[in-house]
Amino acid sequence: LVPETSNIADGGFKLKEIEDLHIKRSDFPPGFLFGAASSSYQVEGAYLEDGKSLSNWDVFCHSVGCGENGENGDIADDHYHLFLTDIDRIHSLGVKAYRFSISWSRILPRGKFGEVNAAGIMFYNKIIDNLILKGIEPFVTIHHYDFPQELEDRYGSWLNSEMQEDFVHLAEICFKNFGDRVKYWTTINEPSLFTSYAYMWGVYPPSHCSEPFGNCLAGNSDVEPLFVMRNMLLAHGKAAKLYHQIYQPKQGGSIGIVVNCMRFVPLTDSELDIEAAKRAFVLQVGWVLDPLIYGDYPAEGLKYLGSEVPRFSMEEKNIIKNSIDFIGINHYTTIYAKDCTNSTCSPTAKRAIQGFVETTPYRDGVLIGECTGIEGFSVVPRGMEEIVNQIKTRYKNKPMFITENGYSSPDVHETRVNVMLNDVKRVKYHSEYLTFLAKSIREGADVRGYFVWSLMDNYEWLSGYGVRFGLYYVDHETQKRIPKLSARWYKNFLVNNTDLI
Ligand code: NOJ
Repeated sequence: LVPETSNIADGGFKLKEIEDLHIKRSDFPPGFLFGAASSSYQVEGAYLEDGKSLSNWDVFCHSVGCGENGENGDIADDHYHLFLTDIDRIHSLGVKAYRFSISWSRILPRGKFGEVNAAGIMFYNKIIDNLILKGIEPFVTIHHYDFPQELEDRYGSWLNSEMQEDFVHLAEICFKNFGDRVKYWTTINEPSLFTSYAYMWGVYPPSHCSEPFGNCLAGNSDVEPLFVMRNMLLAHGKAAKLYHQIYQPKQGGSIGIVVNCMRFVPLTDSELDIEAAKRAFVLQVGWVLDPLIYGDYPAEGLKYLGSEVPRFSMEEKNIIKNSIDFIGINHYTTIYAKDCTNSTCSPTAKRAIQGFVETTPYRDGVLIGECTGIEGFSVVPRGMEEIVNQIKTRYKNKPMFITENGYSSPDVHETRVNVMLNDVKRVKYHSEYLTFLAKSIREGADVRGYFVWSLMDNYEWLSGYGVRFGLYYVDHETQKRIPKLSARWYKNFLVNNTDLI
């Protein structure tokens, strides 16, 4: 592969609309890690190459059709073949870190039932080595939604405690092969979102849910999400323990988990809605982080989930407690929370893990913030400061990384490339969210890094290729990448310490 040059011009021109944004690189600590992020299924493609097996997402998208037009990640951004030039792009942005995930079915095509695929290991070795050559930290997610379909077919994947051992096996292969160079690990991406999408609403594979949700293949959405979450937390805990005991002492890195962290604000100033907003936070964030930091589920959450919650034994509590070195925060938006314990809840709110909270981006018909390409993902920059402070308080200022923050343009049917390249709104989004992040850091929050979602336009799980989050525009016919205005802005911000482009 001959790397093509993909430098981003320094710019030197100003845009009126963003002249009043004043965030600067120097508003953050010198060692603060700025980066860009992606995940395997969303960018790699090459879905059956060099020994990779079919993943749950390959099979799901081939059978039911994903995205708006039945798209899938078979080719995606063809990053499997274009990774070298993509690393040049990452480098030319001036970022110091790249967050990516390992495709489980590429390195362990049959999970623990088969051999390690040397070609898969080689692929990630090349990525890691080339990043390091260019002074970029690999920030690796071990599991970001995709796993070998065989684990689903054999024993029901995350519903079965056997998945814990399979995950630990995967994690150990990663530590062994990559841990000499990878210093930042996260085990699992967004367990709360995954459990509700895959086992409550049935929109992610294996598409489990129960009435009144449509089109599910099987399942019981009252209890399954609770069992899946428990398996994920124990899988994380066991992998982290192994890392802390065997690998960290010689490799010297750190390990965390990535949590989807929406900010909830009360719809009205009634006591009930105020409580509902707190409860929504506890069930989304606390349900994952309390066990991994304090050793058990939060009492405020247990109260609403009843006796059906599968609990942890003393031994299990000891495994999960204190099992993270840092918290990965994926934050995009803020939404209103409304209590429905005293009224009729919509089915989604009533379900176990939603705790009788209804959410809406509207108050009196007015959107909470400008809309984006995903419904309910409004632009609310101050939410960044608020969520960081909320997590800082609950977890005694444990180190945090913003592992994702990003903007998708509302016009998902736009086809004029020039319009997509001139992404002023994305620039504003990042500048404003960063402004609030800087404020929380000034006030003492121990946040150590920030990753833009995403490096380049890619396959978005429920929406396909119309929803574009990238700093780079990707033409999926030709696989050509073109830096958007936001890429120039990010580079200027990082390299020239100015928000002006
Ligand atoms: C979070 C997920 O980790 C990522 O895969 C997804 O593309 C973004 N959110 C945007 O929805």
